[in-house]
Amino acid sequence: MFVTLEGPEGSGKTSQGEALAATLSKRIPLVLTREPGGTEFGERVRDTLLSFGAPPLDPLTQLLLLSAARAQHVREVLRPALADQRNVLCIRYSDSSRAYQGGGDGLPEASVEAAIAIATDGLEPDLTILLDLDPIEGLRRRASAGTEGAQEGWNRFDARELAFHERVRTAYLQLARKWPERVVTVNAARPFDIVRAEILEIVLSRLAVDTTGGTP
Ligand code: TYD
Repeated sequence: MFVTLEGPEGSGKTSQGEALAATLSKRIPLVLTREPGGTEFGERVRDTLLSFGAPPLDPLTQLLLLSAARAQHVREVLRPALADQRNVLCIRYSDSSRAYQGGGDGLPEASVEAAIAIATDGLEPDLTILLDLDPIEGLRRRASAGTEGAQEGWNRFDARELAFHERVRTAYLQLARKWPERVVTVNAARPFDIVRAEILEIVLSRLAVDTTGGTP
């Protein structure tokens, strides 16, 4: 099964992803990975996109860079793991491009979908957990060190204006309405352990369906 974790800044994707992976990997073969990243090339793209020292990039350039990293990730990590009957938990994937490059930066949906189609070659998650959070709360978490969601430090996307983050959130919620079977929204404003338990329950119930042949 291919599961993705999505959500705005500070929603706890990284900490929740690690907690979920620690629990799941005791029961099933699991690969935990992330975007941008997951391959050596992807981590380099991540540095270029996120660091304040890198040159400013046009939104279309960002979409294409993220898509190049995704193409490598799909071919080098995701497809081989799934072909090997392992499960994959990926922190951010195509929905991040829809929400950030599409919703946040306003790139045309057709361009975003074309880039996703080329990069993923049709590889869609079976389940996406959307950690929903008000951007004001998310950015507050990111800014205060030592709280969940703050581990990776402040990056170039975090530094964008509040309206950008509001558009990202709105776009994510639209995706959840568009694909209710795939995208499950979880209220990430609640305490970490409550959110963790809910995510685990959702994933385990899907896994049960998956392993009994309910989904292809
Ligand atoms: P990351 O630190 O992983 O996210 P978070 O701040 O939520 O912990 O940073 C990754 C950044 O990359 C994040 O701000 C969103 C951005 N991004 C896109 O804009 N489009 C994409 O397709 C992906 C995968 C990430």
